[in-house]
Formats: sequence, structure tokens, C-alpha cells
Amino acid sequence: MRILLVGARGMLGRRLETALAGIGDVIPVARSGTSVTLDVADSTAVDALVRGFAPSLVVNATAWTAVDRAESEPESAHRVNAIAPGALASAAAAVGAAFVHVSTDFVFDGAIGRPLVESDPVNPLSVYGRTKEEGERRVRAAHSNALIVRTQWLYGPDGRHFVGTMLRLAAEGKPLRVVGDQFGAPTCTVDVAAAIVRLVRAGVTGTVHCASQGEVSWHGFAEAIFRLAGVEYRVESIPTSGYPVPARRPARSSLRNRIMEVTIGDDMPMWQDALAAYLATTATSST
Ligand SMILES: NC(=O)c1ccc[n+]([C@@H]2O[C@H](COP(=O)([O-])OP(=O)(O)OC[C@H]3O[C@@H](n4cnc5c(N)ncnc54)[C@H](OP(=O)(O)O)[C@@H]3O)[C@@H](O)[C@H]2O)c1
Repeated sequence: MRILLVGARGMLGRRLETALAGIGDVIPVARSGTSVTLDVADSTAVDALVRGFAPSLVVNATAWTAVDRAESEPESAHRVNAIAPGALASAAAAVGAAFVHVSTDFVFDGAIGRPLVESDPVNPLSVYGRTKEEGERRVRAAHSNALIVRTQWLYGPDGRHFVGTMLRLAAEGKPLRVVGDQFGAPTCTVDVAAAIVRLVRAGVTGTVHCASQGEVSWHGFAEAIFRLAGVEYRVESIPTSGYPVPARRPARSSLRNRIMEVTIGDDMPMWQDALAAYLATTATSST
């Protein structure tokens, strides 16, 4: 199977490249750093590239992920998060390819007060969330059996993320004040990539939640990072109001993987187990 992976140099994209290699020949595509390059904001180029390779699967791991900057640059976020997924899905449909798109818990407002299932109503609070939600709708309109995978609070072997930032700031001796009233499920990119491969193999389509089990606040997550890394460090818990940022975040947006439960089985780990496994790997690779 020929797989066109767009966004192959992102945090999740790099893990997807490895995982998808188990089910086909992956053509990694990115804005730069790959032999095939693409700006997904250029719909004509998107169409030409997909038609040119005629893959049987297109996977979109691109996004404008600068959540706060999106508030001041909404057009740029809209081009990448809303228009581009629609163009990619449409091009995939035109060549008869399956399509996988990655989305986010930020499509929800987080006000329901329990882990969110796929059928819960969306109500994004930020430009990032709104553009991602529009991207989902454009994908559904352009491709009749796309797979849309919503995930959250990602970290992993690649890219910049909360786990790396916490450990770096502590190593620099910086005082840490972390929000204690926003809850979600920290999720490792390795686990999401593996789950996406299982979903593709099983032919699951529609909107699917894919996050670690359990939930924690950012403050609790920070404390767990230090505990599991064997680092003694004090982290002060602050309310959302004590850390003003441009984009509003959902208060409780942990995802329940209900569709995975009833289709392929939900084998996503508890967030603490995934974090421990990840930290063990980084400790091994740095010795
Ligand atoms: N990170 C999280 O916590 C999180 C949570 C929930 C959902 N998600 C979703 O997971 C998916 C993967 O995100 P990630 O965390 O891996 O983000 P990431 O590391 O920022 O990767 C996104 C990739 O998209 C690429 N990209 C952006 N604009 C592009 C353009 N115009 N043309 C081509 N490529 C472009 C970026 O390339 P450049 O490096 O060249 O900009 C980057 O490599 C996204 O759909 C995101 O919304 C992420």
C-alpha cells in the first residue's frame, strides 16, 4: 500500500512515519526536510501532489499548532487547520484513497464535567479550536469515509512538549507555576501512532477519540513528571486566571475512546504508565 504522509516532520508525524511503515510504503511529505515537499496551504499544489502519487492512503498530520499565536494570526491558522484538510481529503477522494486526519480535544469547551465521547457536542473556545473543528467538517464533506482521530496533550520522542519543557526548566532551576484547574489526559505520540495504524488496518472510519486513560491537571502532570524522573522539584499550583494567555482552553477535556472500545478495543495505556515508559526510554537513550 502506498501511503502519503503529510506533516511527516511534526511531533506526531515522525512517529506516524515509523508506525505506518509496518503497513505500507510511506512517502513522507513536509514543508521542508523531506525529498517531497508541500505547503498544504497551497490547494493547487495539494491536488497535484496527491494525484501525482495516486496513493491508497493519505494521512494528514499537519496543523497550525501555535494555539496562542492563532488568536492574532487567525487567517494563517484557518488556511492550515481548516482549508488544507478539506483540500487534502478532496484530493484523496478524487484518487480513491482512504484519508486519515488528526484533530484535537480543543474542539470542545470542556464544560460537560466528564470524559468526552465522540458524539458530544463541539464548542471550541479559541481560534485554534474553531479552525480545527472547521477542518473536521470540511474533511467529512469532502471524503465520505475519512477517519478523524482526536487526541490531546501530546508528548513523545520528537519535538517540543510539556514534558521536555518541565525537565529543562527544572534543570535551569527556574521556579515552576503550573495551572491546576485544567484537566486532560497526557498522551504519548508513540501510542497514538500505533492506534492509528490499528484503526486503519481494521478499516474504522468516522470520528474517533484516541487518548491515554485517566485524567490529571497540568500541575498534577508536572508533579508526576518529576516523581517518575526521580527529580525533586517544587511545582506551585495556580489557577487558570493566574496564567493569562491569549487563547481560552477547555477546563476538562479528557477524551474517552468509546469508538475504539467498540471497534478495535481500547488498548491505550493509563497516562501514568505511558509517561513512565516514555521517561524510561529517554533515560536509557541519554545514558
Ligand atoms: N501537540 C498536541 O498536544 C496536540 C494535541 C491535540 C491534537 N494535536 C493534533 O495532532 C496533530 C499533530 O500535531 P503535532 O503535535 O505533531 O504538531 P507539530 O509538531 O506542530 O506538527 C505539525 C506539522 O505541521 C506542519 N505544517 C504546518 N503548516 C504547514 C504547511 N502550511 N504546510 C506543510 N506543513 C505544515 C509543521 O511544519 P513546520 O515545522 O514546517 O511548521 C509541523 O511539522 C495536529 O493535527 C494537531 O492539531 C496535537
